[in-house]
Amino acid sequence: MSGISDSFQRPISYLRVSVTDRCNLRCVYCMPPQGISLMPHSDILRYEEILSVVRVAAGMGINRVRLSGGEPLARAGLVDFVRMLAGVREIEDLSLTTNGVLLKGHAAALKEAGLARVNISLDSLKREKFRQITGHDRLPDVMDGISEAERVGFAPIKINVVVMRGINDDELLDFVRLTGEGWNVRFIELMPLLQGGEQPQFVPATEMREIVSSAGRLEPCQPPEGNGPARYYRLPGARGTVGFITPVSDHFCFKCNRLRLTADGKLLPCLLAGAEIDVRSALRAGASPDDIRRLVLEAVAAKPEGHRVRQGEVGQTRPMTQLGG
Ligand code: 5AD
Ligand code: SF4
Repeated sequence: MSGISDSFQRPISYLRVSVTDRCNLRCVYCMPPQGISLMPHSDILRYEEILSVVRVAAGMGINRVRLSGGEPLARAGLVDFVRMLAGVREIEDLSLTTNGVLLKGHAAALKEAGLARVNISLDSLKREKFRQITGHDRLPDVMDGISEAERVGFAPIKINVVVMRGINDDELLDFVRLTGEGWNVRFIELMPLLQGGEQPQFVPATEMREIVSSAGRLEPCQPPEGNGPARYYRLPGARGTVGFITPVSDHFCFKCNRLRLTADGKLLPCLLAGAEIDVRSALRAGASPDDIRRLVLEAVAAKPEGHRVRQGEVGQTRPMTQLGG
């Protein structure tokens, strides 16, 4: 398999697929208080349509697929869709990012359908704080979901924590303690994507690292699995790892290997640049696999060298619910 590279010689091997813009939570940094307009159902790709794009991309060298949302488990039929994707021979790694609220009831079926890994987004371990951040009192469901995911054999479990000043930056050490029990915790810098409304404040990873260091010496280590953009460390004796994802302070665009497909069928060359390639119209006009292939190549060719969020430039106008992280 030769694979595809973009104009900056970056091999493109990873596709993130947002299956829905709907979500059962309302995280402060993601949903503006006035709410967001939802995609009309008719704009959302059917699973068969997504599958046809994934098949073409897989034939071009994409070998890792991650499903996200909104909240992917909020879309009916996700387990069957996972089974369809797991049947695409070239896909070596099929994973899911979820807020965990509905995970308990689905973990076993997802495992059986061929899902390899789950990442769970969890910004607080305190019930009341969780409710404040997400608008819903569902922390117990998420914790049950995590236990169930471990029980059915999803390993390693990765927990994503978006760190917000004055909101959850007092909980970093509580999260780090859980690496002792095998959790892999990744602290993420908040990206300024919310349009209008109050944006919670970002904490730079240097500061997070300082806080975490007070728990012990951070030994740099290999990623638990997968090869995302985080840098990983381990505390002495801990089974799990601590990672830092620094989209703002130290961007990792130079090794970006991904494309995104939105629920309404647009290929995004970059999370933070505004460019989109419309695959849905092509699909619905009867595009052949070769036509889709040309659109994937167009998206790859349109990948910018990097974003300029630190300079205050965000080209992206879609809310995170449509981007899937
Ligand atoms: N900045 C950083 N991470 C974000 N996520 C959602 N919005 C933002 C943002 N503005 C994270 C979620 C989840 C992943 C899908 O993206 O918390 O971990
Ligand atoms: Fe839902 Fe994820 Fe947005 Fe939270 S961050 S509201 S879980 S889509």
